[in-house]
Parts: sequence; C-alpha cells; structure tokens
Amino acid sequence: MNFKHDIVIVGSGLAGLRAAVECVEEADVAIVSKVLPTRSHSGAAQGGITASIGNEEEDHWEWHMFDTVKGSDYLADQDAVEIMVKDAPRVIYELEHMGVPFSRNAEGKIAQRNFGGHTSEYGKKPVKRACYASDRTGRVVLDTLYDQCLRHNVKFYQEHYVLSLVLKEGKCSGLVTYDLSSGELNLIEAKAVLLATGGCGRIFKTTSNGFASTGDGLNLAHGAGIPLMDMEFVQFHPTGLYPLGILVSEAARGEGGILRNSLGERFMERYAPTVKDLAARDVVSRAILTEVREGRGFEGGYVHLDLTHLGEEKILEKLWEITSFVRIYLGIDPVHEPVPVYPTCHYLMGGIPTDSDGRVLQDESGTITEGLYAAGECACVSVHGANRLGCNSLLDTLVFGRRCGLAMKKDIPEIEHDPVSYEPLKKGKEMTASLLDRKGSEKIDGVRRNMQLVMMDYCSVFRDEEGLNKGIENIRLLKTRFNDVEIVNKGRNFNYELMEAVELGHQLDLAEVILLSALYRKESRGAHFREDFPARDDKNFLKHTFFFREAPEVRYKPVAIMRFRPEARVY
Ligand code: FUM
Repeated sequence: MNFKHDIVIVGSGLAGLRAAVECVEEADVAIVSKVLPTRSHSGAAQGGITASIGNEEEDHWEWHMFDTVKGSDYLADQDAVEIMVKDAPRVIYELEHMGVPFSRNAEGKIAQRNFGGHTSEYGKKPVKRACYASDRTGRVVLDTLYDQCLRHNVKFYQEHYVLSLVLKEGKCSGLVTYDLSSGELNLIEAKAVLLATGGCGRIFKTTSNGFASTGDGLNLAHGAGIPLMDMEFVQFHPTGLYPLGILVSEAARGEGGILRNSLGERFMERYAPTVKDLAARDVVSRAILTEVREGRGFEGGYVHLDLTHLGEEKILEKLWEITSFVRIYLGIDPVHEPVPVYPTCHYLMGGIPTDSDGRVLQDESGTITEGLYAAGECACVSVHGANRLGCNSLLDTLVFGRRCGLAMKKDIPEIEHDPVSYEPLKKGKEMTASLLDRKGSEKIDGVRRNMQLVMMDYCSVFRDEEGLNKGIENIRLLKTRFNDVEIVNKGRNFNYELMEAVELGHQLDLAEVILLSALYRKESRGAHFREDFPARDDKNFLKHTFFFREAPEVRYKPVAIMRFRPEARVY
C-alpha cells in the first residue's frame, strides 16, 4: 500500500510524541511505531526531569550547564547544552499545564530531588534539581503526551516496523514499513521524516533497556549513508538490579540510599569525597566494579544499595515502583534488607548527528540532509558528550523533540513530495522474502545471545585494545553466522521472528561501529574507559568521532566550547 503525509515520525517515545504535538496543527502528521505507543521505552524512565526551577533550594541554569558539561567530561557541545538547560523550566511548566501529575513538596510546589552530578555553586554541594512523579516520571509524561496526540488526531501506524528510509542524493522523502499485523509492506511518502527510535542497549546482555531498544533508527540512517557520532560512549547505570539489570533508579541514592561493599563500607567516600554516592554515573559504575575486582564485592559481582535507614513511609512514597520490582523479582524487601546492584547498560550518548533543530548532518562539516531529522536517544546533538547526567535525558527528548517539530513545520512549505518510486518497496519485499526463504542452521537467539556476551566482555565499563580487537573479530564471525540464520515462522501475521531477524542485523552492525569507535579513541573520557590509556587526552581527543560506512571510517569534529574550559573532573 502507499500512504502520504507531510511529516512522518518514527518512534512513539517522548521525543517523537513531543515533536508531533508541536506540528500537528499546521501539518498532516503520522507516527510509525513498532510497539503500541504507550509501551515505548521512555515509559521506563523513573527518576525525573532536571530543571533549575529552584523549588527546594537556590539554583541557576548556569550551574545546570556547568554540571552537564563537567558530567560530559567536556565533550558536550556547549551551545546545545545552553539551549537545553535554559529551556528546562519552560518544559516543566508546559508539562504541568498539559496535566503531568508531578509530586509536590509541602508548599504544594513541584517537588525536586537530588540526582548524580547535579550541584550548586559549580560543584560545591549536591542540589535538588530533578522534578519527578514518584519513581514513574517517564510513564506519566508518556501517557500525557500520548493523550495530547490523540486529542489532536495524530495518525498512528502502530506495530509497523520501518524497513528502510527512502533517501537519495542527500534528501529523505519517505520510508518503507512492515505492518506486523498483516505482513503487508507499505511505502509512506513524506516531506519530512523524524527518527526518534531510542537507543540500542539490547546489544548488551545486562541492560536496563526494554526489548524494543534495538537501535533501528541509528542503523537505518547509517545504512543510508549518514555517519554515526560518538558511538564509543555507552553509559552503564551504576544500579541495575542484580542479576537482571532492571533499573533501580538513581532516585534511590538521591533520596539518601547508600552503596556499601561486602565489608559494609560506604566506598563512594573514597572515590568521590564531596558528593559520594551522587557522583556522575561513569564514576560510580567504575567504583562498583573496582570494589568487585579488588575482592570487596559479593560473590557473583555486585554490591549493596542500602535504603533501610530511609524508613518505610519515605521508601513507599518516593520509590514505590522500584520497591515493588525488588520485592517481585528478588523476594527482597528494601525496607528491611539491602538491594543487590551492579552496573547495567543504560544509555547511548552518541547517535545520529544533528544540528540544534534536529536536522540530520551528513558529515562533520555540517551538511544538512533535506527532509531528515532525529531527536532523543538515537540522536546526538550533542548535549551529553561522553557521559550523561541522570534526568537530562527526558529533558533532552522534550527540548529537542519540540525543536524538531518547530523546524519541520518551518521547513516543509519549501519541500515538495518527490515523484513516487516503488523501487524501495520492491527492495523491501525482496529483503523480507529472502530472509523468509533462507535455509540455515543458526537461530536468531543463539547469535543474539553471543553478541550480547561479546559486548559485555570486551566493550562495557572497562576496555582495552586487545579486548576491543577480540570483540571486533567475534562480531564479524557472528555476522557470518547471521547469514546462516533460518526463520522458522513463515507466517504473515505478527511474525516477530522476521522482525527480530532484521533487528539483529541492525544490532550486529551497530556493535561493530561501537567497538571500532572505541578502538580508535585512545584515551579515557566519561563512560569510555581504556585501561591501556587511563587518562583523558584533551590534546589529541577533545573532538567528536564521526563514523562513516565508507573509508576513511572515522573523521573528527571539534567540540563547541563556549563558557567552560576543560578541567580535571573531581567529584
Ligand atoms: O536512575 C534513573 O532514574 C534514571 C534516570 C535517567 O537515566 O535519566
């Protein structure tokens, strides 16, 4: 089938929904999502959204900017960070007016809590900056924005999976989708396409990411010739629930939770004497694994998150959701017992390069791709640099999702629909038919499981050249094995096996890009820690990686440094 819209948004998380709300009154807008919209991974965000509204204590956007830049290990582009942190208070009040049920303080104002790396007076002490709704902030914002989209009659193609972008000579004019319910392929023509497909945490075995976080948008763009930026920076959240990797929100430490090793020591006092458990995530994740490596962890490789001193009332009011996870999955009651935690793959700082209005860049010199936009975790603008601070991610989706909406409605009057070509649809049909017809001895699950283990072993919190080379070699072998994967289900309706095969192809490609980008960056910065190059090297590597499909694979772009010069990063 063939459909036509002014604007097509891929992904129904916060960035996609916020963009749709912005432009739906002026344009014909559709959202394509492989899941039911309210199951998008944004709904799993727990802790909050940062904004210097100062409801609990003095705060300023300049302090927020400083913390974000320092947290990024000075790799974030400071012009983009300034846009984000200045816009944050407006974002919060806008959400409040849309109906988001934020938690309240005793004065009835939107409550704010501490989060890692957020400080006052340029690093002097932790500041309460995260606005929240108990520990289900993403859930309530997602539901509210979805309501707004329904109210404005945004068209949803739900459970439609995007197979390819129609991108030729630097212009995007639509996409090809696979309708999961019927097995039909569709060509959707558009003047503007926004990729808002989230991250790719499912490449790793231990992850807080939902099943849908397979990096599709990243690889669709890369496959169509767009470089990927800063892909070596993959964040491990310090507190995944051991042994599942499910997120235990940093809000738990924000509310006073303490990390303890097997000797009962509050070990973060040694690694971050000023802010302790509230240091940036890369610092805390490395500290936990160092404790484990040096024999002060628990068998299996975890430490304890102790909430018992907070009291039942506070735990149930502020941390209700994670308390229920811990009770259900581990049979442990955080009110009375410590919670076993270890680092879990959480967030990709890199992604599809964009300008500050979400327009996708074709190269490091800033050439715009007409009709193509990206926002949210799959995009790299770059506000998080080498390491993202907690609660800056929801803020990023809302600030830059809206800016994409504004940019698209401004740009589309100048863009004509391209004459229809059925070639991309034909190619999509050939691709799915060849996957379904393929005979082979491999199954998706075996190859995927191996990929996840390889990435954990060689490309997680600690990295070195030998391991990265082994990782690359293993992923290349798995790509060969992938060509021998046979799909057992030949059916047309809800053939998830077929979709997972396409997803796995994307994941393997992205795994290789992450490994190679990490190999070429011979320094340690933020979440990218090279044991063979343990120091940050501003002389040679204060620059963004642009990874291309064609040789030369890697080119670099300078970092935008406006207010804050790189300094040693001490917490
Ligand atoms: O810990 C958390 O609640 C996660 C928040 C975030 O990644 O921003």
